[in-house]
Amino acid sequence: MYNYQLHQKIGIGLQKASLKTDTTNLSFYSRFIANISSIHSLFSELYGIHQNADALFDSLVDTIIDAHKNRSEQLNDIDNLKSEKGNWFLSNELAGMSLYVDRFCGTLNNLATKLDYLKKMGINVLHLMPFFESPLGESDGGYAVSHFRKPDKRYGTLPDLEKLRERMSDENMYLMLDIVLNHTSHKHEWAAKAKAGDKKYQDFFYMYDDRNIPDEFEKTMPEIFPENAPGNFTYNSESNKWVMTVFHNYQWDLNYANPDVFITMMDTIFFYANLGVDILRIDAPAFIWKQLGTTCQNLSQAHTILSLIKLCVEVATPGMALLGEAIVAPKEIMNYFGSGIYKAKECDFAYNATQMALQWDALATGETKVMLAAQPILSQKPFGTSWITYTRCHDDIGLGYEDNMIEKAGFNAYEHRNFLKNYYSGNFIDSVSKGALFSYNPKNGDARISGTLASLCGLEKAIEEKNEEDINTSINKILLMQSFSCFIGGLPMVFYGDEVGYTNDYSFLNDEGKRYDNRWMHRPLIDWEKNKNIERKGTVEERIFSATKKLLSKRKKLPQVADLSNVTWLTPHNVHVAGFIRSKENKRLLCLYNFSNKPSSVTWFVFRENKFSYKLYDHWSGKNYKVGSDDEYLMIEPYQFCLIEEMP
Ligand code: GLC
Ligand code: GLC
Repeated sequence: MYNYQLHQKIGIGLQKASLKTDTTNLSFYSRFIANISSIHSLFSELYGIHQNADALFDSLVDTIIDAHKNRSEQLNDIDNLKSEKGNWFLSNELAGMSLYVDRFCGTLNNLATKLDYLKKMGINVLHLMPFFESPLGESDGGYAVSHFRKPDKRYGTLPDLEKLRERMSDENMYLMLDIVLNHTSHKHEWAAKAKAGDKKYQDFFYMYDDRNIPDEFEKTMPEIFPENAPGNFTYNSESNKWVMTVFHNYQWDLNYANPDVFITMMDTIFFYANLGVDILRIDAPAFIWKQLGTTCQNLSQAHTILSLIKLCVEVATPGMALLGEAIVAPKEIMNYFGSGIYKAKECDFAYNATQMALQWDALATGETKVMLAAQPILSQKPFGTSWITYTRCHDDIGLGYEDNMIEKAGFNAYEHRNFLKNYYSGNFIDSVSKGALFSYNPKNGDARISGTLASLCGLEKAIEEKNEEDINTSINKILLMQSFSCFIGGLPMVFYGDEVGYTNDYSFLNDEGKRYDNRWMHRPLIDWEKNKNIERKGTVEERIFSATKKLLSKRKKLPQVADLSNVTWLTPHNVHVAGFIRSKENKRLLCLYNFSNKPSSVTWFVFRENKFSYKLYDHWSGKNYKVGSDDEYLMIEPYQFCLIEEMP
């Protein structure tokens, strides 16, 4: 809705910033006029009760104008190109890798020398794990940030980052970085001031004189790291106060009920946007609003904040897509794409953590029933938004999908999860996996799973036992999992090391700053001598690397794999086989995955029912099949998959 008073505010802001409303700023100006009413109403929903709400809103307007003013011409041009393309990030031509700069190659400068390796594999989106200043030993892998704008010396400098980005942009590669929105390190300047008694900065956090309010909160707040950081509050002796610390005790939760926090962090978001970030990963957005008597997760105000961020970004730095790292139950995840009039106007991306965990479920059980039971919810993702699809990342695997999905598949939810935890931590008699339980909570028996893709798929054990057959099986499992993530719909994000089959690294146990957190077992230090094996035919590294590369290159050639709300699941015919069709105009791809350790068949009826001709071509094996009146079945070998198109 048009509002004259709000329109005036833009004019005043532009004047203050000495910007004209001429052609150079025209598209920004138009976007701002189009969105300012919505921005104002979301802002007022959160902060309208403040007595100086109007002045606060003015300062948000200034922040947005500054962001535009600081945006380089080059980034403005890229914004325009992306807008012309529309939904650029849904493309089947994108493929990502997530990596720790230090563990992958040391520094930002060295990373430039590794771009060839990544390109060779087909990667064109790079997620660099947090590298801004973070105290060694109290770092949570960079997620405890003590300076949001200064890279940690160990990695390099902002000019190094800029050089890297230029190189990436020459190679048509996109950059993804994190903003750790929910908390800061207790060593951040704001926390230091709060410790020293500065009231302004104490209000940036949740700080209490005694345990009364913290105890009230604890009644309903779950624990995130019950083993190594129990409870949600930490006593700080300098200020003699209790501070909310949902994650580790050195990560202080920011208080978004304070509008200064929101505006300051919005400015930080723009700082990243103007570094040239293409996809901003918003860390832990489920946690950003706290309210007594609730779990303090997924609250409606958290969504209001995210929609507000989205609109501000759309106005000033529209080329930057937003990824909400909400690892939450299936019924909650859809809300991160926005609801009501903000549907598809909140996060552009979310992690498909449910699908990821269900792939692990299917791999352990050899059955796809639970996965199928989740699809009615997962398929509600709005058009224009996308998933990050993945098998592994730097975090644990949580089994957070709902009990009713497990029950629908005919299992008891408690026993089923116990089986999975035992299976992947290697405590199950037939299991080949070598993972470990993460964050076991003795109060309710909950636990998540750590371990690399390769170790969870049995490669570590098979190599130890020098068992060639088991090595083959584990490689097949790895590729089955990766293939699923490439074709199910979304932007596939490979976790570094997995492309060459790194097994668990246990050296974290000797490091004081890491030993309390077994997620480090799956965050490998890359050994470039080992990686050179990708050039030596027949090595484990070469086999996994070249197959992963082949998956990504197939994906890029099949436009029906773009994430256009175009996934149709097959009605189940064989409980071991998951199957879905991807379609665009008259092109279709039938993807079939056998999660069983035995050959599984797919009857001709599947093809007839979906109106496939009987002449088929499998893009993966390169073979032609006929499934018609004579051959009644398509046989899929254990842990194999097919990517089928019909032949004319
Ligand atoms: C996210 C990160 C995780 C980190 C947590 C706290 O979940 O992925 O690694 O521990 O946020 O920042
Ligand atoms: C929180 C995050 C999740 C992460 C975990 C840390 O639950 O939302 O992403 O896995 O913390 O392990």
